[in-house]
Amino acid sequence: MIPLSVPHLSGNEQKYVEQCLVSEWISSAGSYVSQFEQDVCALTGAAYAVACINGTAALQVALRIVGVKAGDEVIVPTVTFIAPVNAVHYLGAEPVFMDCDDYYNIDVEKTVEFIEKEVVCVGKIAINRRTKRRVAALVPVHVFGNAANLDPLLSICQDRGIAIVEDACEGIGAFYSKGKLKDRYLGTIGTCGCFSFNGNKIITTGGGGMIVTDQPALAEEAGYLTTQAKDDALRYIHNEIGYNFRLTNIQAAIGVAQLERLNEFITIKKNNFLSYRNAIEDVIGLHLAEVPGYAENNYWMYALQVDEDEYGMGREELLKRFADIKIEMRPLWHPNHLQRPNLEKQAYRIAKALELHKKTLNIPCSINLKKEDIDRVIGCLKRWKK
Ligand SMILES: Cc1ncc(COP(=O)(O)O)c(C=O)c1O
Repeated sequence: MIPLSVPHLSGNEQKYVEQCLVSEWISSAGSYVSQFEQDVCALTGAAYAVACINGTAALQVALRIVGVKAGDEVIVPTVTFIAPVNAVHYLGAEPVFMDCDDYYNIDVEKTVEFIEKEVVCVGKIAINRRTKRRVAALVPVHVFGNAANLDPLLSICQDRGIAIVEDACEGIGAFYSKGKLKDRYLGTIGTCGCFSFNGNKIITTGGGGMIVTDQPALAEEAGYLTTQAKDDALRYIHNEIGYNFRLTNIQAAIGVAQLERLNEFITIKKNNFLSYRNAIEDVIGLHLAEVPGYAENNYWMYALQVDEDEYGMGREELLKRFADIKIEMRPLWHPNHLQRPNLEKQAYRIAKALELHKKTLNIPCSINLKKEDIDRVIGCLKRWKK
C-alpha cells in the first residue's frame, strides 16, 4: 500500500518520549511542552506560542481571544479542511464563504472586493450590509502549505477592525520570500496564527496544535482558556468558561524531535514534488498544481489536476483505480459552503473552488515516500491515459 500522508519518526522521538516515561512527566505539565512552544517561536519568529490539543482547538481559542462573539461573522475560504469553519460555529458565529485562487488559497481579490462592496464601517465596526451582522474576523488558510497572499488583506482588515487569524495548520516552516512580507513565517502575520500537528501533517505529535501571537495579553488569555480558565489554581476559581485543551508532555516531546527535522522534511517534500511534476507534465490532461512563487512553501500536500476531456478519464475513475491497487489518493475537500450546516450561509461569488473541486486529487506525499512509489504512481497515470 502507498498511503497518502503518514508520519516519519526516525529521529529523537523515541529518546525524548522515553525521558518522559522514565521521569514520569507524561501529562500536561512538563518541560517538553514549554520547549516545544519555545522552539515554534524560534522557528517562526512569533513572540509567544501556546500549545494545545489540536489545530481545531487552536482555531477556536484564537477566534475567541481576538473577540469573535456569538452572532458575529467570520470570513472563511470554502476550500479548506472543515476545521476553521467548525471553529466559527463552535463560537456561535456565522461563516461567510470566499472563493479560492489557483493555489487553493482564499481568493484575495474577491475578498477585498467583498469587504469594500458588502461591508460598511460604523465607527470601527465592520457590518455586513446584507445580514447586518458584525464581521469580526477573517481566517485565511494556507492550503497544502502554500502561503496565502496576505499582504493585500492586511490594511483593509485593520482599518475595519477585522481580525486576521491565520490557519497555518498545514503550513509550518513556510515563509514569504518576496514582497512586503519577505522572511515572515506563516502564522505570524495575523493577530494570531494556528498550527496543527495531526498525524497527516509535515510534522506531527500524533495530535496537537499551537497558537502563536505577538501580543502578550492574547498569549496569556490563550493559556488561560486552554487550561479551564483557572483564576485561582489552589481554590479552583473559574471566572470564565474555559476548555481542557492542553497538550501532554509526551506529545510535546515528539513535537520537539519532529521540529528538529522540519527543514530536512521540507527539502524531501520539495524534491518529491519536483519528481512528480517533471514526470506528470509529459502526460496530456494532467497537471500538478504549482505553488506560489512569492513564498518558500513547505510542500506538505500535492494537488494533481485532471482534465477529463484531455486525459480521457476523470478524477473519480482515477480515484477508484488507485484505491483498487491500494494507492491512497484523496479528492479535494467538498466545498464547505455546500456542506449541509452551511447551505444557508452567505457565499460570495464562488466559481474557481467548484472548478478545482471537480478535477483535483491529492496524491501520496509522505516523507518516507520512495522513488519506486513515485514511479509506480506515475507509471499508472501514463498507462491509463486514453
Ligand atoms: C487547514 C486545516 N485547518 C485545521 C486543521 C485542524 O487541525 P487538527 O486536525 O489538528 O484539529 C487541519 C488539519 O487537520 C487543516 O488541514
